[in-house]
Amino acid sequence: MSETNFETLLVERVGRVAVITINRPDKLNALNDQVRDEMLQLLGALETDDGVGVLVITGAGEKSFIAGADIQEFAGRSPFDQRHAMRFPRLYDIMSNFPKPVIAMINGFCLGGGCELAMSCDMRIASEKARFGQPEIKLGLIPGGGGTQRLPRLVGMGNAMRLILSGDMIPAAEAKAMGLVEQVVAPEALRDHTLELAERIAAMSPATLGVAKEALRASERMSIEEGILYERDLFCLCFSTEDKAEGVDAFLNKRKAEWKGR
Ligand code: COA
Repeated sequence: MSETNFETLLVERVGRVAVITINRPDKLNALNDQVRDEMLQLLGALETDDGVGVLVITGAGEKSFIAGADIQEFAGRSPFDQRHAMRFPRLYDIMSNFPKPVIAMINGFCLGGGCELAMSCDMRIASEKARFGQPEIKLGLIPGGGGTQRLPRLVGMGNAMRLILSGDMIPAAEAKAMGLVEQVVAPEALRDHTLELAERIAAMSPATLGVAKEALRASERMSIEEGILYERDLFCLCFSTEDKAEGVDAFLNKRKAEWKGR
């Protein structure tokens, strides 16, 4: 499928960075089945696209990143319907395990499934105007996109309990203070700041970026002893690549490395 054929997504290439914009601004970019299906299709295509090194995910309009799952779809659904809607592969897991870095560029409301999607990204850069929360409790629900698992890992159990049990929304500065986002910038600087970082990362060896992300993600499921052994194996695996030879040679000869991606 061509990148122009998606109804709910905009895709823009900036050098080796693909900027994906969820484009339902009239619904504050709420995640419905169509957005999830189109995102999965798009990610499948970008995974094998050698011209793309880093993904940036954002929301259309001034107001919202993603205001959560589309609540309209919940009305009248049976548990079986909902289980089908939550079938594998889950977008959150695909993004977390995507072999290229994924950056959330958070321009506004970042709520519910939107906050969970942001947490599945590798880094979160937010506008000062962004607001964060897991408001599902106010709908008689709990987070279903990994929020009860990823949020405490990022912000600690107490903060996760506070957000999920109260449904409170917090401003970007507070989200940064608790570790939910890495950087907060002025709204007008958000795009340039995020793209500058994304392009710098995308200029690294794609092969090495993938291995680095894999090692970091492993820390979420392995004991420290297992993780350090796994890191050693991945470190040694890098010695098989042309890019390790290139990177070391470039340093020793005081020149810029030219990555091959293998
Ligand atoms: N699902 C479906 N539609 C949503 C939505 C969601 N999660 N969030 C917002 N919308 C829709 C609204 O229904 C409204 O549509 P309408 O114009 O057809 O009535 C439109 O987006 C604009 O939202 P509105 O509520 O009018 O904006 P606001 O500035 O007054 O409030 C929020 C913004 C984010 C506080 C409010 O929209 C909200 O609470 N959204 C739900 C957040 C949530 O609970 N997310 C978790 C879902 S599990």
